[in-house]
Parts: sequence; structure tokens; C-alpha cells
Amino acid sequence: MTQIEIPWVEKYRPNSLDDVMGHEGITKRLKAYVKQRNLPNMLFSGPAGTGKTSSAIALARELFGKNMGMNFLELNASDERGIDVVRNTIKDFARTLAFDTDFKIIFLDECDALTNDAQQALRRTMEKYTKTCRFCLSCNYSSKIIEPIQSRCVIYRFKPLSPEDIAKQIDAIGKKEGLTIDEGAKKAINYVCQGDLRKAINILQGASSTGKKITEDIIYNVSSRARPEQVREMIMLALQAKFLEARKKLDELMYEQGMSGEDVLLQLYRETMALEENELSDKAKIELVDIIGEYDFRMVEGANERVQLEALLAQFMKYKK
Ligand SMILES: Nc1ncnc2c1ncn2[C@@H]1O[C@H](COP(=O)(O)OP(=O)(O)OP(=O)(O)O)[C@@H](O)[C@H]1O
Ligand SMILES: [Mg+2]
Repeated sequence: MTQIEIPWVEKYRPNSLDDVMGHEGITKRLKAYVKQRNLPNMLFSGPAGTGKTSSAIALARELFGKNMGMNFLELNASDERGIDVVRNTIKDFARTLAFDTDFKIIFLDECDALTNDAQQALRRTMEKYTKTCRFCLSCNYSSKIIEPIQSRCVIYRFKPLSPEDIAKQIDAIGKKEGLTIDEGAKKAINYVCQGDLRKAINILQGASSTGKKITEDIIYNVSSRARPEQVREMIMLALQAKFLEARKKLDELMYEQGMSGEDVLLQLYRETMALEENELSDKAKIELVDIIGEYDFRMVEGANERVQLEALLAQFMKYKK
């Protein structure tokens, strides 16, 4: 039987708090909890793929060791998100005593997906079982968590990982997998992943299927992203009112490279923001960002991507110097 390769994001998930990249301040405090063998209810908030789930699992592993299975309950987005899960699963787990330790931990991943009712029910549950149970919640947007729950938790904010941290982890994984990753490729991974280490590792694994040597080109290919220069070129053409040529670039991105309209729009936004004052005045930039926002909304609402992007390029032409 051929062995199915497990996704690298799981293969290289941190085993201990020491393995978690970045977030030094947070890790330090989590380690202190392990040492004291006590912790408050916590809310981990921050963008995807930055180590929230990994930190919670590593924390539980360090606290409970081989008893982790009995003292740690993890519920994630694939589970039900309604009030029943709070009434049944969570309560059942919370009310029984912890095994060989003072308290259990319930980890509720992607809490922003809990319905309002469920959050209200959770708020009472959290209070009722403080003797036997601690809650660790994770979410992408803390604003989606009701105030009473936020006030019951110590909030830890996870930031996007720095390019250095991403590069370090990419290097470490590359070494273990026998890859050679050049500097351009690392830069490209950082451009595409924007501080999301999960995305970075997934791109690397995708790229590795083409061979052991990883280059910038392969990264942009597997992530179906354009090189920043390509998008920039399209913008410059539009700003020079060379509409047909700009449109040809758009064709290349969408039909030859297979980018989605949304991806093109996002890169268009990023590259517009990155233009220098002598290329596009600040005033024009502000107006264009507003316009990009409008087209983004139209596309989300279901308008034809191709037509919208062409219309957007036409808007750029109005700012010809
Ligand atoms: N800080 C980190 N240190 C080491 N590896 C990380 C880190 N952040 C993410 N990873 C890698 O990315 C994978 C996903 O990370 P994790 O599940 O912790 O993200 P998350 O913050 O919970 O994201 P989401 O908001 O999508 O749930 C991990 O299995 C690990 O391989
Ligand atoms: Mg998570």
C-alpha cells in the first residue's frame, strides 16, 4: 500500500509551546500558566494560520501530558454551532471532574461562528463550571463575540507572523523535506501568504510536487498569483490610458494564469497602494481606493468579474498624468 502523505501543516504543527513561532509575549504567559498549573478563561483572537489552535493544543499537552485525551475537549467549525452543542456536549464534558488534575480545558475553535443564542448559553456555562473547567475560545474577529464572554476572558491577540518568522519555518521544513528554496521563492511566499503560516506551508507543499528546487516562478504558479510586477504593469498601462494593452494584461492574468477576479482585484488594490507619489498622487490614490472598494462590492454581489475589472481599468485611465 502506498503511504498517503499527511498535509505538512499537520506534520509540522508545533508539539510544544517552544515550537510556536513568533508571539513571544503570549507564549511566555502561557508557559507561566503551565508552571502555576492554573489558568484563566482565554480568548485567542487573530487572523487565520497564525498559531491559535496550535498554541491551545500545545498548552494542553504541556499541562496534561498523557491524560490530555481525558482533560481536553476540542470542538471546531465542522461541529455543530448551535445552542445544542453548548447544552449537551460542552455541559457534559464540563460537569465531570478532571482526571488527575484540577481542571479540564474546553477549546472552542472558530467561536465567531457560534450563533448568538449559543454564545448566550455559553456565558452561563462558563460561570457555572469555573471549578472544574477552563474555556479557551478562538476567533478571527473578537468583535463577533458578545461582550459578556469577552469580559470573562483574558484576550490574547495573535498578529500575522513576520516575514522573518515565516522564512525561518519555511527553511526548517524545506530542510527536512530535502528542498532547496531560493531567496526569490521565500519572498514570493511571503508576498502571497501575508503572515498566514498555514498558507505558506501549503504553498510550499504544493510547490514541492513539481520538484526539489523551489523558485519564485513555481510559487506564483502554484498559488495562482501574478507576480507583483505583472499587476503593476497593467496599472501603469491603464494610467497611461493604453486601455487595449492593459486589457491584454488582464487576459493574461485571468485566462493564462487562471486567477479569479477576486484575486486580481486584491492584487490590484495592493499594487495601487504601493505606487509612489510621482506615479500616482496621494489624492488620486485615495479616490481610486474608494473606486476599488465599489467594484469589490459589485463583484461580491455577483456582477460579471471580467466586465467589472475592465470597467475598473477604465476608471484608472481618468487619472492619466
Ligand atoms: N505560530 C506558529 N508557529 C508554528 N507553526 C504555525 C504557527 N502558526 C501556524 N502554524 C502552522 O500552520 C498550521 C495552522 O495553524 P493553526 O491551526 O494554529 O492556525 P489558527 O491560528 O488556529 O488559524 P484559524 O484562525 O484558521 O483557526 C499549523 O498546523 C502549523 O503547521
Ligand atoms: Mg484554529
